[in-house]
Amino acid sequence: MKFFTAALFASVVSSFAVDSLISGASVIPATETHELRRIGAHHHKHHDRRTVTIRSSRNDTDDVSRDFLWGIARANRGGRLLLKKGETYVIGKRMDLSFLNNIEVQLDGELKFTDDVPYWQKNYFYYPFQKSISFWRWGGQDIKIFGTGVLNGNGQRWYNEFAGQEILDPDNTYLRPILFLTENATRISVEGITQLNSPCWTNFFVGSNDVSFDDVFITAYSTNISALPKNTDGFDSYNVNGLSVTNTRVDVGDDCFSPKPNTTNIFVQNLWCNNTHGVSMGSIGQYPGVMDIIEHAYLENITLLNGQNGARLKAWAGEGVGYGRINNITYKNIHIENTDNPVVLDQCYFDIESEECAKFPSQVNVTDITFESISGTSSGKEGRVVADLICSPNAVCNNIHLADINLTSPAGSPPVIICEGIQGDIGVECQSSTNATQTKRSLGMS
Ligand SMILES: *[C@@H]1O[C@H](CO)[C@@H](O)[C@H](O)[C@H]1NC(C)=O
Ligand SMILES: *[C@@H]1O[C@H](CO)[C@@H](O)[C@H](O)[C@H]1NC(C)=O
Ligand SMILES: *[C@@H]1O[C@H](CO)[C@@H](O)[C@H](O)[C@H]1NC(C)=O
Ligand SMILES: *[C@@H]1O[C@H](CO)[C@@H](O)[C@H](O)[C@H]1NC(C)=O
Ligand SMILES: *[C@@H]1O[C@H](CO)[C@@H](O)[C@H](O)[C@H]1NC(C)=O
Ligand SMILES: *[C@@H]1O[C@H](CO)[C@@H](O)[C@H](O)[C@H]1NC(C)=O
Ligand SMILES: *[C@@H]1O[C@H](CO)[C@@H](O)[C@H](O)[C@H]1NC(C)=O
Ligand SMILES: *[C@@H]1O[C@H](CO)[C@@H](O)[C@H](O)[C@H]1NC(C)=O
Ligand SMILES: *[C@@H]1O[C@H](CO)[C@@H](O)[C@H](O)[C@H]1NC(C)=O
Ligand SMILES: *[C@@H]1O[C@H](CO)[C@@H](O)[C@H](O)[C@H]1NC(C)=O
Repeated sequence: MKFFTAALFASVVSSFAVDSLISGASVIPATETHELRRIGAHHHKHHDRRTVTIRSSRNDTDDVSRDFLWGIARANRGGRLLLKKGETYVIGKRMDLSFLNNIEVQLDGELKFTDDVPYWQKNYFYYPFQKSISFWRWGGQDIKIFGTGVLNGNGQRWYNEFAGQEILDPDNTYLRPILFLTENATRISVEGITQLNSPCWTNFFVGSNDVSFDDVFITAYSTNISALPKNTDGFDSYNVNGLSVTNTRVDVGDDCFSPKPNTTNIFVQNLWCNNTHGVSMGSIGQYPGVMDIIEHAYLENITLLNGQNGARLKAWAGEGVGYGRINNITYKNIHIENTDNPVVLDQCYFDIESEECAKFPSQVNVTDITFESISGTSSGKEGRVVADLICSPNAVCNNIHLADINLTSPAGSPPVIICEGIQGDIGVECQSSTNATQTKRSLGMS
């Protein structure tokens, strides 16, 4: 069926630079339903559209980024780019996809970035927030990415070379790209795909509205035991209104879901996290003089296994930090197993010394928080403590409620809930951290 490529459809198009077909590409009109079905572009959930295909890569260094850009431009405004099942598309150049308007990308094959570290450390999109860089950026409106394929960050070399370093170290110069980034995108959805081995954060949404992920699997693993994936967070956001993550699984070794400054209207349902640092609001309040807000979040039916944290709220303290609020957050039906800190309010985040936090406490208010129906077990690493809620003396923490908490610790019973500096009744029996220190000491785990 070769005739369905250049010869037949070149005539359908008008007079743009992208309109002449490039080698190995095809454009199939939406009316060619039989052909769309044949090439795998017919989708039960999405209507047929004008569909563009591009050539795939012949090997791991065969960069098709120019073809990809051409395909995106050609599919933009009402069409679809199909990346076929069984094919690999290698991307070796940074790409600016900020011009999108009504486009679908059906990712059934594999889109894989090269691991040319020297190239990517010179060519990226830069975001000052935590010195983030990205392979590409997606922006515009009405963007749908779906399929059964893989977005592969090819992270192994990055893990090997970064080993022993710390992303939040002010002297760190080994920047690693984010796998998927939106900037100024409105109504963007991602569905069905796998996101594999991102060098750094897996997803970062900047200045975007109505971002949704459904049925996505995010994983990062290393074949080198002395160089595990680091900072491969599932979801981060910055200045985002409307973020929905549903029916998703994350197994990454860092935050599972952790919206950052100015994220509002968050909805999370049926999220499964293994080996993560938990589902966190924040961290926020990191930068001097800057106000950060996280508010209106509803998170329901979350499973957290084998992690550092379960449900967490985190903010920065220390000299020259910012301020803000975490407000109106509900965690409901959360199941936690083998996790060091199942429920946490931490306003002395990261490696800041406790004396420094005491001297320059966080100014992030924490208000209207509900933890309801939280069950499972801690790892026992924190002794009998299963929830640790410590409010900063320079912030207001009120209307924080825990209900139907059934958390146990393998280190003994009864389980302990720490609360400090919180105004009003939190709904469960709790004690100050000085008691907890005693508890931990008495268990020999200081
Ligand atoms: C990879 O494929 C490209 C394009 O066909 C070719 O030029 C290059 O020699 C190939 N490289 C290797 C290592 O096979
Ligand atoms: C594994 O990572 C370590 C630490 O960076 C590195 O020294 C070593 O070369 C890596 N091993 C392989 C096989 O790449
Ligand atoms: C996104 O919007 C901001 C604010 O309007 C602007 O400064 C920035 O250049 C935009 N980014 C892109 C990629 O268009
Ligand atoms: C809760 O989420 C899990 C996935 O982690 C899913 O299997 C289960 O069906 C969900 N429960 C409900 C009631 O939707
Ligand atoms: C969860 O992670 C553990 C390692 O901590 C691993 O052994 C297990 O296979 C993972 N579970 C699933 C379902 O992937
Ligand atoms: C967050 O929003 C507030 C007010 O809406 C604004 O003052 C602040 O600069 C924003 N923060 C960031 C990090 O953009
Ligand atoms: C709290 O957030 C929810 C969304 O999770 C929203 O529907 C509700 O209106 C918010 N409540 C207030 C008082 O803003
Ligand atoms: C934090 O609470 C204090 C006391 O109510 C209030 O003055 C301040 O504006 C609040 N900060 C934010 C960012 O909402
Ligand atoms: C608490 O959870 C345990 C299992 O972790 C379960 O056996 C027990 O019935 C639960 N208790 C309540 C009151 O729900
Ligand atoms: C907490 O400490 C107080 C006094 O220091 C003590 O009376 C109380 O029994 C302690 N609570 C627990 C649960 O250890």
